[in-house]
Amino acid sequence: MINHFLGIKGLSKENFLSLLTNAQNFVEVSDRDLKKVPALRGKTIINLFLEASTRTRSSFEIAGKRLSADTINISASGSSIEKGETLLDTAKNLEAMRPDILVIRHKASGAPHFLAKQLKYTAVVNAGDGMNEHPTQSLLDFLSLKQTFEARKQSFEKRTIAIVGDVFHSRVARSNILAASLLGWKIKLVGPRTLLPFEFAQAFQQADISIDHHLVKGIEGADVVYCLRMQTERQGNYFVPSLLEYSRDFCISERILAKYAPDAVVMHPGPINRGCEISSEVVDGPRSLVVNQVTNGVAARMAVLFSLATRQKEENTNL
Ligand code: NCD
Repeated sequence: MINHFLGIKGLSKENFLSLLTNAQNFVEVSDRDLKKVPALRGKTIINLFLEASTRTRSSFEIAGKRLSADTINISASGSSIEKGETLLDTAKNLEAMRPDILVIRHKASGAPHFLAKQLKYTAVVNAGDGMNEHPTQSLLDFLSLKQTFEARKQSFEKRTIAIVGDVFHSRVARSNILAASLLGWKIKLVGPRTLLPFEFAQAFQQADISIDHHLVKGIEGADVVYCLRMQTERQGNYFVPSLLEYSRDFCISERILAKYAPDAVVMHPGPINRGCEISSEVVDGPRSLVVNQVTNGVAARMAVLFSLATRQKEENTNL
């Protein structure tokens, strides 16, 4: 059986923490003058990105290259998907060239899980599937938080994270809820009723989750305020009256943070709509981890690729 990395769902706390430790060890490779280790020499990684991406795609490519793997990137435009080829045919043809790992981003939830069942020789990594999960984003987010709390000599256990905004459409929120819950953190979900239905929390049975529709109440006392992008491409027209109205009620500003979550760090997965979800003052200010998140993305993905490419091939199916 091949190992895959499909989601935070199904990972144990030990799996997650050991990936974080490995990622933490890979951070220094990117600070070297010669940014390369020979760990995956002779391995081939295909990055199949069928949805838009800047950070995740370049981060996977750089991660593969820093591990000395041969990496190639394919996007929908310019591939035979434009000629109507199915995802399965595309993946099976790529597999025929014997890559070790296929990293996939797809607009359909479950696409990586589907391929993991169909492919015989290739490990599948989920780089974001529809509204379902974005597990390497969670790894890089919690790596950034681990570094932050360790630098402050504070515990990484039992923290409170407020996840704010378009929770309903967010695969980042789903993966981070699962990750925070693995670590035993308290999770506060905050957003307008239409983007954060009351029943949402019930899907995460083990988690310590509360829901708030008022920003101030939702972020009060949080150690981490995690802003989500307004995912208008997934929303259609009717979830909020206008982005202006959304930002009036939910935009994260320094004024609100200073008053209600004065010690909180602030995160955002990118891309950011400045002034809508979060003010520029916060993004570029001292409590922002936004740039650290992107830096840590490389190490987090190195840890996942390394673990998949070097693991015995008969253990569990999700890392
Ligand atoms: C996220 C994604 O694509 O899921 N971005 C990312 O990978 N850094 C978040 C988003 O697009 O809102």
